[in-house]
Amino acid sequence: MTKPIILTGDRPTGKLHIGHYIGSLKNRVAMQNEGIYDTFIMMADQQALTDHAKEPQKIIESVGNVALDYLAVGLNPEKTTIFIQSQIPELAELSAYYMNLVSLNRVLRNPTVKTEIDQKNFGEGVPAGFAMYPISQAADITAFKATHVPVGNDQAPMIEQTREIVRAFNHAYSCDVLVEPEGIYPENENAGRLPGLDGNAKMSKSLNNGIFLADDADTVQKKVMSMYTDPSHITVSDPGKIDGNMVFTYLDVFGRAEDAADIAEMKAHYQAGGLGDVKTKKYLLEILERELAPIRARRAEYAENMDAVYAMLKKGCERAEAVAAGTLSEVKRAMGLTYFG
Ligand code: TRP
Repeated sequence: MTKPIILTGDRPTGKLHIGHYIGSLKNRVAMQNEGIYDTFIMMADQQALTDHAKEPQKIIESVGNVALDYLAVGLNPEKTTIFIQSQIPELAELSAYYMNLVSLNRVLRNPTVKTEIDQKNFGEGVPAGFAMYPISQAADITAFKATHVPVGNDQAPMIEQTREIVRAFNHAYSCDVLVEPEGIYPENENAGRLPGLDGNAKMSKSLNNGIFLADDADTVQKKVMSMYTDPSHITVSDPGKIDGNMVFTYLDVFGRAEDAADIAEMKAHYQAGGLGDVKTKKYLLEILERELAPIRARRAEYAENMDAVYAMLKKGCERAEAVAAGTLSEVKRAMGLTYFG
């Protein structure tokens, strides 16, 4: 049997935070290390440009940062092909053929795209490239014949769209060149979308409510100490609430099995009254640092040698392009676009 293939990716629009780590990076490393998958991880710079066309510099800079984040958490270029979308022109070529198999109405019905259009202030109108990005995402996935795509729940419509395109293509050209992928989604809701330090539903750079993998220990400490807890828990003796208290939400997400008893005891104590926020925050800080300190150290080491990081990316791009070129030539053959033999 051939190996199952994983492809996933991120838009490089800034450094990655602990929400990315717990929601996807950690799982990617685990899947990589299982050794049963062929794994591709893509930095979707072209997709990021669909809503940042006029600030490419920001995206380009982020590619270096995201590469460092990837390496720091343990993605290993010997096991995982890490590459940059814009350097694989075959992806754009595949998109061009797929666009003819999707109606404009279907594209505009994508719920994630709709939400994003509502959230982003596209003053000069929605860029056509933005509305079309799910089609280019289908190209990303199918170029590698990915069987599994680990993503957040908000990406489910992209997977569905990809499956439709695969079926439409294979049917239209009576072939079985393209492979229908399956999405793999986070099991734990809070891990899947870690709320911000301030209790906002989403951790994000623009809301300034996140802890970044690149943050130093002091910064992490300050951020944890300023986390949103229970505003009605004013003095230590007051009974406190667990629900919506970010310290306990994070403890549930970042605590390991061996911490479960301590966390349960702490929750009971907090609810009964007599446990202060500073204590719970110090404990959370320990739990977080256990995970973050080694990541931070590795990140700093890689950052010393960016030349080596870019050499690694170049190799990844070459490997990725070879695979995508193979699929593109099968696609063109299936369509009959072989004028010269
Ligand atoms: N849309 C994804 C995001 O915003 C990024 C992405 C681009 C992607 N191409 C992909 C994810 C292919 C999985 C597969 O996070």
